[in-house]
Amino acid sequence: MSTFDEVIAADQRIEPRDEMPEAYRKTMVRQIAQHAHSEIIGMQPEGYWITRAPSLRRKAILLAKVQDEAGHGLYLYAAAETLGMDRADLTERLIDGRQKYSSIFNYPTLSYADVGVIGWLVDGAAICNQVPLCRSSYGPYARAMIRVCKEESFHQRQGYELLMTMMGGTAAQRAMVQDAVDRWWWPSLMMFGPPDADSPNTARSMAWRIKRHTNDELRQKFVDMTVPQAERLGVTLPDPELRWNAERGHHDFGTPDWDELKRVIGGDGPCNAERIANRRRAHEEGAWVREAAAAHARKKEATP
Ligand code: ACO
Repeated sequence: MSTFDEVIAADQRIEPRDEMPEAYRKTMVRQIAQHAHSEIIGMQPEGYWITRAPSLRRKAILLAKVQDEAGHGLYLYAAAETLGMDRADLTERLIDGRQKYSSIFNYPTLSYADVGVIGWLVDGAAICNQVPLCRSSYGPYARAMIRVCKEESFHQRQGYELLMTMMGGTAAQRAMVQDAVDRWWWPSLMMFGPPDADSPNTARSMAWRIKRHTNDELRQKFVDMTVPQAERLGVTLPDPELRWNAERGHHDFGTPDWDELKRVIGGDGPCNAERIANRRRAHEEGAWVREAAAAHARKKEATP
């Protein structure tokens, strides 16, 4: 039987029953739980627009998308369970602030164009970050990422299609799209985490092949990927320093407001309190459903 270090060196997967250092297990639980919480909290900014969608078609698309996010959360909680965690306990840790979720979901959705921009930029950033995680060293997480990424890529395309439609509409619709891009661009860049020099976890997670690229590498990839899409769409990205650097073969871009990222991660973003309050209320109001499901399962088990 191979040791943990041999499995990692051979670029193979660690499975739940394999031996693993306690620090590796803790890192995986931290990342998977944060990721699961992000999917669940991420239902809120767009969920708000389900009853306000401008047509039946848009409503059906958005409803399906928000349901997908719930599914991603469930996969990920199940992946955390393979590491000995309890889903109810993880939910408690989210709602009492002991565990984090992505900063991006603490920004408000002010117009319907935000739904398109979340699909295009936020889900685009998520794909950029998560495609390499399909090769992450922890088997259940890597496998969950494969399906999650397929669905995220559909989400990204629906966002882009929505924005293309709006950009072909009235001047007011085009202005709504530009306003949404202006508000979401910098928070999207922050999704990749702090700069490498200030990222305490990256080096070890790279050595363990949990992360395949650093935060800055993925941020650069996202910028390079997004600039031509913005041109095609006809919107301006709100960064005066953004330009192609032929020498590097990449775009140069400005510095995100890292203090803002720290504040948002620390609980002081525009919507942090509201997001957690909603999650807590949904959890409390769902108590009777959990009790009924558990009673039903007990009854079924007792019946031969
Ligand atoms: N929002 C909230 N917290 C963040 C963010 C962010 N955008 N970026 C970094 N952090 C946190 C980290 O979780 C870490 O906190 P902790 O040590 O208390 O857990 C701290 O800031 C320092 O960051 P890093 O050392 O860079 O942490 P890490 O190596 O875990 O990298 C990253 C952060 C890139 C987010 C990584 O955890 C990851 O790839 N996670 C999986 C993807 C994910 O969770 N996506 C969720 C949003 S996408 C979506 O749901 C649509």
